[in-house]
Amino acid sequence: MKAKITANKNFIISEIDKRIYGSFIEHIGRAVYNGIYEPEHSTADDAGFRGDVIELVKKLNVPIVRYPGGNFVSGYNWEDGTGDKAKRPQKQDLAWFTIETNEVGIDEFQEWAKRADTEVMMAVNLGTRGVEDAKNCIEYCNADTDTYYANLRRKNGFEKPFGIKVWCLGNEMDGRWQIGAKTPQEYARLATETAKVMKMVDPSIELVACGSSGPYQKTFGEWELTLLDHAYDYIDYVSLHSYYNNKANDTPSFLARAEEMDLFIKGTAAICDAIKAKKHHTKTVNLSFDEWNVWKSIGATSAPEKWTKAPHFLEDVYNFEDALLVGCLLMTLQNNCDRVKMACLAQLVNVIAPIMTENGGSTWMQTIFYPFMYASNYGRGKTLRTIVECDNYHTKNNKEYPFLYSSVIDNTDKGELIVFAANRSLDEDMELELSAENYENCKLIEHIQLYSDDLTACNDKDCQRVVPDEVPLTEDGTILLKKHSWNMLRFKY
Ligand code: AHR
Repeated sequence: MKAKITANKNFIISEIDKRIYGSFIEHIGRAVYNGIYEPEHSTADDAGFRGDVIELVKKLNVPIVRYPGGNFVSGYNWEDGTGDKAKRPQKQDLAWFTIETNEVGIDEFQEWAKRADTEVMMAVNLGTRGVEDAKNCIEYCNADTDTYYANLRRKNGFEKPFGIKVWCLGNEMDGRWQIGAKTPQEYARLATETAKVMKMVDPSIELVACGSSGPYQKTFGEWELTLLDHAYDYIDYVSLHSYYNNKANDTPSFLARAEEMDLFIKGTAAICDAIKAKKHHTKTVNLSFDEWNVWKSIGATSAPEKWTKAPHFLEDVYNFEDALLVGCLLMTLQNNCDRVKMACLAQLVNVIAPIMTENGGSTWMQTIFYPFMYASNYGRGKTLRTIVECDNYHTKNNKEYPFLYSSVIDNTDKGELIVFAANRSLDEDMELELSAENYENCKLIEHIQLYSDDLTACNDKDCQRVVPDEVPLTEDGTILLKKHSWNMLRFKY
């Protein structure tokens, strides 16, 4: 099969905000405890953070990490995770029915973020709490005044404010599973007043309001319209969450979920713009896709055994086809970089995550680690608008999709054109031609491929079965994308 991508140097979608390669650490399962934090581990640093995990996080080059939830935040008191560790309360976490020791809180997490070369995206609790606690939390984290919460931070050993720039106004408040879930009106009012007050404390912050927890939420649309009607003046981003899996055992449809993510993004952006027009506003509200991934065990709402600490929970093992979809979803984010300014792969360590740890033992990389690593490290610059010519395939529900899924990014700093491309045919290799208009002497310098004969192949702690390999370049410049493969092509110009 033949396919062609035409890209033109002048046809730019937008500059990519590097924060689309963000991720997420929630207090859930072994994400925090025995994930990023394990003081007894042989690689632990003076603060108890696992050095081997930080090393892998750095390989992923994650610029921002959302914290502390997720569903967890909707029952969380941020004060519990500050100050003298010996005095911190142990509490029930009603989001996942586990015991939270509070050994790690914002005092520690902002330090971990520094050590992992990343930034914190902090969520406040709008489930059981509201304006007052959000106000206090932002004063504690960001204020330099001689006032109670800023002084409490100083007393706890942090003279300088943490300077957290991005704040989420709650989590999935449209979800009936959420502690303190809200109707569209209830959330719209609460988010507006909380946003207003948080910006009084620190006008330099950026605020993300909860959009829908997925495109299939009954309130999708109405939720965003109501929210934006109230909060437009005060917020900067609307969030989107979506998880995907192949429970139907239908790989062609599964790989086409990248287009579903695209529709969700475009629909939410259209709603933001409708309210912008209605309000005669000049400001544009952009999008934060701050939870996305393949999630096979979706629906599990409680840890296997209730009221345990750091249980093994939601530790999905990803296979090769999951990595193919994650690669495609990243292309969707890149192609929508004019509206999606932040996104978080949910999550980062142990819980539906690219990085896995053994308690007291080693770390290992899941299949999805690799497309994310390449996208994050090389997918920097400007996404180009392209024309893709190739054959289509039909899914069981009679929808039509191109076999080739791709994104093209111009990294002007490096003088490189980066093409991410997935061949979604399950049987046929694809010969790919790139027509790079207005680029002189565009030369392929590297072809990285993620491929396995077996779509169900997984990695584990003893064996990395699915790893990228470098494809030897051909003399005549022919580019071959193997059947069901994910690829990164680097061209120098
Ligand atoms: O990432 C796991 C959970 O998925 C988060 O806690 C929640 O926000 C979403 O439903």
